[in-house]
Amino acid sequence: MQQWFTDAKLGIFIHYGIYAVQGVAESWSFYNGRMSYEDYMKQLDGFTASKFDAKYWADLIAKSGAKYSVLTTKHHDGVALFDTKFSDLSVMKATPAKRDIIKEWSEAIRDQGLRVGMYYSLIDWSHPDYPSVYENGVVPDDLSQVNRFSSPMDGVQDPERWERFLAFNRNQLGEVLSNYGQVDLLWFDGDWERSAEQWGLPAFKEYLKSFNPDLIINSRLQGYGDYKTPEQGLPITRPEGAWEFCTTINTSWGYVHTDHNYKSLNQMIRMFCDCISMGGNMLLDIGPMEDGTIDPRQEAILLGLGDWIRTHEEAVYGTQEGIMTRYYLGGSTLSPDKKNLYLFVYDTPRENICLKGLCNPITKITVLHSGKELTHEIHGGVPWFHIPGTTWIQITPEDMHDQVTVLKLEFDEEIEMYGGSGAVVTHN
Ligand code: GLC
Repeated sequence: MQQWFTDAKLGIFIHYGIYAVQGVAESWSFYNGRMSYEDYMKQLDGFTASKFDAKYWADLIAKSGAKYSVLTTKHHDGVALFDTKFSDLSVMKATPAKRDIIKEWSEAIRDQGLRVGMYYSLIDWSHPDYPSVYENGVVPDDLSQVNRFSSPMDGVQDPERWERFLAFNRNQLGEVLSNYGQVDLLWFDGDWERSAEQWGLPAFKEYLKSFNPDLIINSRLQGYGDYKTPEQGLPITRPEGAWEFCTTINTSWGYVHTDHNYKSLNQMIRMFCDCISMGGNMLLDIGPMEDGTIDPRQEAILLGLGDWIRTHEEAVYGTQEGIMTRYYLGGSTLSPDKKNLYLFVYDTPRENICLKGLCNPITKITVLHSGKELTHEIHGGVPWFHIPGTTWIQITPEDMHDQVTVLKLEFDEEIEMYGGSGAVVTHN
């Protein structure tokens, strides 16, 4: 995995599309029959991007502390946000906006020194050749359950049309990967409707990497991706390898006027700490309004997150996953040399912060945001059996940050944790 990605910790995801016009669920609203396809597509006429200011977005994203951003170049509805030769369904050709959003955005993001990620939906529920085969090539027993946007209704498959669709996807991806400078990350979605074989893997992946050998591809590629993308629910067990947790800021990916179910800044920071404590990134989604403005509540979260990250930078960027919650009941990260341990303190402690199983002597403890030094004491332990005691760090409510407090623990040697189940002390 590319170092920049594991060091980055925060990315900003953007779901921008015609669904913001009426504020309906992106693509799914017609797929699930909550509105007709025709009514959904009428939103094309209302997509103006009249206040879209790519520099403003990029500046806000940089202020959030994110090191990369991922924008929807095309969602399952098939509406491209970029200028494509291979379809008329784009905001350039089919909406009053008439702008290449991807061009303006990718330039602004790069100007901020951030990495560029492109979301691309593999499924295209508007393309006439898409509903030509079934998942795995298997005709389902009950054709009444088939969704007309993804598969044929009559049980007859047409592999030629499917090949045409694959060529279309390759062509559009060729545009995305070559017309907008270096793309660092390709964020696929919707692989689940076809098998690896149907997507033409692994040749398809080789084709994508031919544009940039360092290109990172997320896991939504039927087993051929580079990192896992758990979504909406925080992982409890650490996902294997590199990973990124994607989450909405309220409950919607795109802009939904009626969705006021926002997470608080404190919840967002804690979720972020939980991700980096397990060695992952967080990809936090915003859904801009159709005219390109961003809801002030979304902006406030991004700015608040950025303030917190800047104050605690060394506990965030370039760190590694921390110690298990059996040792410390909260989140934590480690510096790459494992000589600094950062503890995330979520709530105001009653008396002390407790740390178990620590084998090394602590040389210094500081409250990261204030620089204040804290004292500690160790009780118990059997040094001659190499069983450490319990470390109690003295802290008062006045020492706390108003969001999440970070304590920096320094060591002369790489940190070592005891993992045993204790012992009877037979030699005193
Ligand atoms: C889901 C949805 C999609 C959304 C994506 C983001 O897979 O299909 O609407 O874009 O999650 O992770």
